Amino acid sequence: MKARSKIVSVVGARPQFVKLAPLDRALSGRFRHVVIHTGQHYDDNMSQTFFRQLRLPPPRLNLGIGGGRHGAMTGRMLTAIEKALLAEKPDFVLVYGDTNSTLAGALAAAKLSLPVGHVEAGMRSFVDDMPEEINRRLTDHVSRLLFCPTPVSMKNLRSEGIRRGLVPSGDLMYELLHDSKKTIRSNQRLLREFDLSPRDFFLITVHRAANVDRPDNLERLVRILESLRDPTLFPVHPRTRKRLRRGGLLKRLRTRDNLILCEPLGYLDMLTAAMNARAVLTDSGGLQKEALFLGTPVLTLRDETEWVETLRRGNRLVGLDVARVKRGLGATPTVRPLPFLVGGKRPSRIIADSIQRFLDRR
Ligand code: UD1
Repeated sequence: MKARSKIVSVVGARPQFVKLAPLDRALSGRFRHVVIHTGQHYDDNMSQTFFRQLRLPPPRLNLGIGGGRHGAMTGRMLTAIEKALLAEKPDFVLVYGDTNSTLAGALAAAKLSLPVGHVEAGMRSFVDDMPEEINRRLTDHVSRLLFCPTPVSMKNLRSEGIRRGLVPSGDLMYELLHDSKKTIRSNQRLLREFDLSPRDFFLITVHRAANVDRPDNLERLVRILESLRDPTLFPVHPRTRKRLRRGGLLKRLRTRDNLILCEPLGYLDMLTAAMNARAVLTDSGGLQKEALFLGTPVLTLRDETEWVETLRRGNRLVGLDVARVKRGLGATPTVRPLPFLVGGKRPSRIIADSIQRFLDRR
């Protein structure tokens, strides 16, 4: 009997663990599925918590490459992933989203002539120097199968001349959220811990380099935080914490009684917070969509979004501008999630089927 094909998934950062969860379940039955963790996110609450909560098998290998400048990080990952792929000899390599781990995984595989599949292909912000935009464009152009979550992502790829291997797959993040909704609803721990009541608080997250690495923008963020009068839960990403601490701003924020600064939240707690918040303010791509799915309006702390379809569905771009935030919080938008199924099929199933067809043709 022919051995089952082997697929390696390269992941490293929080949003990738989330997308991996439903796909791992769909792939494991049919293929030998091996997970390589680059180590880009390494704190317990940025990594292990997700593996545990999402019931993911432990990675075969953790390369332990986190921190440092982006070029050096990506380069070290490239060397280590190439070595790992030579040892694993997979038939197909999957990468997810737009982080440095995504680009390093895709490049390492392509250089070894291994076919690459990109989950969440075709997303564009059209901001040329945004680290994620660089990662996603380059990854798309070396991928053989491009799993597109939205019609706009398909259009973006076609306009860059990519016509082969496009697969309208729907959104894995929504699939997981759909399956987890009951658990999220019954999870009361977080509200109890921080003494929060449903629809009586704001949730804010921010970590994008453009927002937190530039001191002027960081100051504008702090002014937004100081303008909020209601209870506000602020799980602080390690990058943001470092920048706030360096500028003496963390101390300033700690003096605000309504502001609850906490460590990064795991998958379930973050979504319980998003479900119960009056509004979510964020620069995260994933959380923008997740909040809408849970019926909560979103203010995106950027001037653009890759998920343009969300803009007519309860998401509003406010940049880092106190007046725009105020206007946004005063509005009562109709909240509608994006459709996440293509042809009524689970995204994980569509992706697994297309990989199977691709490998059968070879
Ligand atoms: C990365 C992704 C971003 C994604 C985000 C999700 C890139 C270019 N960016 O951003 O697209 O939205 O993950 O959260 O890949 N750090 C810790 N502990 C950790 C992880 C990071 O202390 O567990 C520190 C790092 O040492 C570094 C900083 O946080 O100083 C930023 O980490 P980095 O991996 O560069 O990118 P993120 O900002 O997390």
